[in-house]
Amino acid sequence: MTSTLFANPLLAPASRPQPRHIGVIGAGAIGPDIAYYLKTARPGLKLTLIDIRQPAIDAALARLRDYTDKAVARGKLKLDAATAVMADLAGSTDYDALKGCDWVLEAATEDLTLKHRIFADVEARVAETAILTSNTSSLPAARVFSALKHPERATVTHFFAPAWRNPAVEVINWPGADPALVVWLRHFFCATGKLPLLTADAPCFMLDRVFDNWCNEAALLLAQATAAEIDSVAGKFVHAGPFFVLNLAHGNPIIVETNTLQADEEGEHYRPAQIFRSVERWVTSAPGKPIAVADGKRADIRDRLLGVLLSQTVDILDRGIGSAADLDLGCRIALGFKQGPLDLMRGLVEGEAARVLERFARERPGMPVAKRALAAYQPSERHLLVDRIDDVLVITLRRPEALNALHDEMTDEILAVIRRHEGDPAIAGFVIVGYGTKAFCAGADIGRFPSMLGDAQAAAQYARDCSRLLVHLDAMRKPVVAALNGMALGGGFELAMRCHALVADRRAFMQLPEVTLGILPGIGAMVIPYRRWPDAAAVFHGMLTRAERLPAKRAHDLGVIDELADDFDALIRQAVARVHKLAGQPRANADGVRSIAPLEVGDAKAADGRQLSATIVGLIVQAVQGAAAAPTLAQALEVGYRAFGAAACTAAAGEGIASFLGRRSPDFGATG
Ligand code: COA
Repeated sequence: MTSTLFANPLLAPASRPQPRHIGVIGAGAIGPDIAYYLKTARPGLKLTLIDIRQPAIDAALARLRDYTDKAVARGKLKLDAATAVMADLAGSTDYDALKGCDWVLEAATEDLTLKHRIFADVEARVAETAILTSNTSSLPAARVFSALKHPERATVTHFFAPAWRNPAVEVINWPGADPALVVWLRHFFCATGKLPLLTADAPCFMLDRVFDNWCNEAALLLAQATAAEIDSVAGKFVHAGPFFVLNLAHGNPIIVETNTLQADEEGEHYRPAQIFRSVERWVTSAPGKPIAVADGKRADIRDRLLGVLLSQTVDILDRGIGSAADLDLGCRIALGFKQGPLDLMRGLVEGEAARVLERFARERPGMPVAKRALAAYQPSERHLLVDRIDDVLVITLRRPEALNALHDEMTDEILAVIRRHEGDPAIAGFVIVGYGTKAFCAGADIGRFPSMLGDAQAAAQYARDCSRLLVHLDAMRKPVVAALNGMALGGGFELAMRCHALVADRRAFMQLPEVTLGILPGIGAMVIPYRRWPDAAAVFHGMLTRAERLPAKRAHDLGVIDELADDFDALIRQAVARVHKLAGQPRANADGVRSIAPLEVGDAKAADGRQLSATIVGLIVQAVQGAAAAPTLAQALEVGYRAFGAAACTAAAGEGIASFLGRRSPDFGATG
């Protein structure tokens, strides 16, 4: 097995066969959800669910049946896929049913002695190469696994509720584990749609240190405020306040255990609040329904909550428990924070984070304090992963919550990485790929659009800002290759088409869906294809005005895609080889007036029959023709930026963006 710890887990080739039989121990809250994730991700898998109580197993299997029924009803799962999920799925109270498993995942009660007994029982029944993982949220792997005969095949994989949908999984990198095991697990999770977060073997790992201490601090604050007041103030930072979340988890006694563990190991300041032992249900306010809190009290609560968050953040980073970018992403995705703590820190006015931390240190002696200047804790890349394969830098777009959608901060980050390395003689060039297997990039981040609507200048300027990277790519001497691991939509395709070559997974496709949103692709799609692949002009007309999909194979036939790849490993290998092949080759000059086939508004209908906005299709037609008539590439691109600005001022744009964000179909009949 490969043991290189790439930042993008998929860059390590899958060097172990796919598991065929997985055992999940524990049919309580999270075990069945993990089982459902595994079965939907790998429907051919045999899965055995073990519990000491048959009624728990029966209830768990009924829950899985219920999930599949709902998924089918909502159109998320096809009927044959649902049948496959429920096939080869069995429950048992007998550990002998685990014989033949190549992976056993324990999700039982948080009790070290019990876990020792479980793993001894498991080890007696499975092959010595079978993987063993625990879903403990607090007990260090070294303690859970050290007594095993073969601890090197074991580690903690910590899921978050609801485990079938929440993508975050902490993968614990403890010294006793075979490094290749950790590499393989991260690869497996990433390839099955999860977000593996590499975490050191500290008690409570990374995210529970944040969550448990956040809740504990909230409970300590009950000396000066009510649960409803605290949840209301917490609403500034999280989608649901700590007491509301504790109610969802039915009192969450786990905090007593996890904070006792931290207190015993790291100091009394972590001791759980007494009140946890006596209260099971909190009287609080629902998310989005805050109650009035007096200003002084509000400031005190806010400072304490922010204080514990920042204090845990500096401690986690100083101790190397996780990376800064993973911490931010994990807090948002796994714990429901509106912003990661480092993003929060960046957004505070000068000196505010230091003031909050100093106050927290005074009020909560013993709690971790910053050991470096606060700016030093910020990640160098927030939205990217950067790896090196031989002499090629592989840049991975990582925004899993938005299918790697682009915004100006992300494009500026890519540009900064390229600028930092392009002068380095040891670097031959770059590959850009998307995180995971579903999307290269789902286009521009639609969440950023509402603020631009109605302001042509601001929208055109945003397009120019997002294009800083693209204009730089045009002039680069070192090759940049786009590796399309999945869908490349809108701005994602516009980024790919500015790269010096495109390699695509056979299952990938390209699309310019902007017209269906009442806007248009303003950063090159109305310009570049007509200059780079003039023979495919008719295809691009259809993509721009009807949102037609371009499958990778057809794009390859048209010369838009240079090479097709069979899987992710091949994609990266071929993209790296392309970089070498292109090294030293000059790029074609894209200046000059172009003659293009006529393009008309037509019936303003999308390829799938949906009504589009005739106004927007008209703007696209005009811009494509205007850009073709421009004598230089720079002038042609400017036509695109301005057209984007003009589109942002239409009623269709307001309707299209609002409908996407409101998860409904747009009505362009009413807007024109
Ligand atoms: N900007 C912001 N968020 C985006 C996004 C984008 N371009 N594309 C996808 N997302 C988000 C979705 O809103 C969703 O968020 P949620 O989980 O909070 O609801 C998440 O990414 C996953 O996408 P989802 O829509 O659930 O996946 P799907 O497989 O059902 O559909 C798409 C995938 C790509 C068809 C659909 O997400 C889509 O139409 N995206 C917009 C594509 C687009 O128009 N791009 C051009 C933008 S100018």
